[in-house]
Amino acid sequence: MQADWDARAKENARYYVQTAQESWSDDEFFASGEQTVREQILNDMINICQGRPPKEMRVLEIGCGAGRVTRALANVFGEVHAVDVSGEMIRMAASALASHPNAHVYQNNGMDLTVIPDNLAGTFDFAFSSIVFQHIPSREVIENYVREAHRLLRPGALFKFQVQGDASLETQPDDTWLGVPFSDEQVVEMAGRCGFEPRHRHGAGEQYFWLWFFKQ
Ligand SMILES: C[S@@+](CC[C@H](N)C(=O)[O-])C[C@H]1O[C@@H](n2cnc3c(N)ncnc32)[C@H](O)[C@@H]1O
Repeated sequence: MQADWDARAKENARYYVQTAQESWSDDEFFASGEQTVREQILNDMINICQGRPPKEMRVLEIGCGAGRVTRALANVFGEVHAVDVSGEMIRMAASALASHPNAHVYQNNGMDLTVIPDNLAGTFDFAFSSIVFQHIPSREVIENYVREAHRLLRPGALFKFQVQGDASLETQPDDTWLGVPFSDEQVVEMAGRCGFEPRHRHGAGEQYFWLWFFKQ
């Protein structure tokens, strides 16, 4: 996964992060991250903040790419920690976030969140991942991330994330573009195994299958 995503980052990072356009200006690219935050975060603050002031919240992002959404998250929340398997993507994210000292980016191993400092386990108020798990070919790796998000979140906190829900897709174990799909039954079972309540789910059967997992 690391080699494939490093190669995509070198070829045309912004296109592979957001395929809506082949070429993105800085303004367009980061505006698209602001749009994601408006559509997935700002209109869902009751579930996400649960009464906490956003500026006092610590947030985790899995698969931050070139920092498109991370930068918008750092404008809303007090502290953002973001991981990505690609060192090339992380280099671009670090540059995009140079003027945001409240954002911390880490290259991880593509499987877990052990790169986040141990003393932060159990302290995150919200975790988010968008258009990342839809590219991961292994159900075990995705479930491990869900277990890891559980380890880092405080009790009651939300992990909002998107998986591929279109089960008609033919996926291959070594394809890092077309990730493994999940049925509604599979995500409910995964939530149970990982200690989450799968309180809301939207888009079962579709590419954008959004899940609201609350840590029990
Ligand atoms: C389509 S991009 C989306 C980036 C970002 N979420 C956004 O919306 O701008 C997918 C990102 O997921 C990262 N990624 C893919 N597989 C990963 C894995 N197993 N662990 C961590 N990051 C991964 C890639 O390196 C890439 O940066």
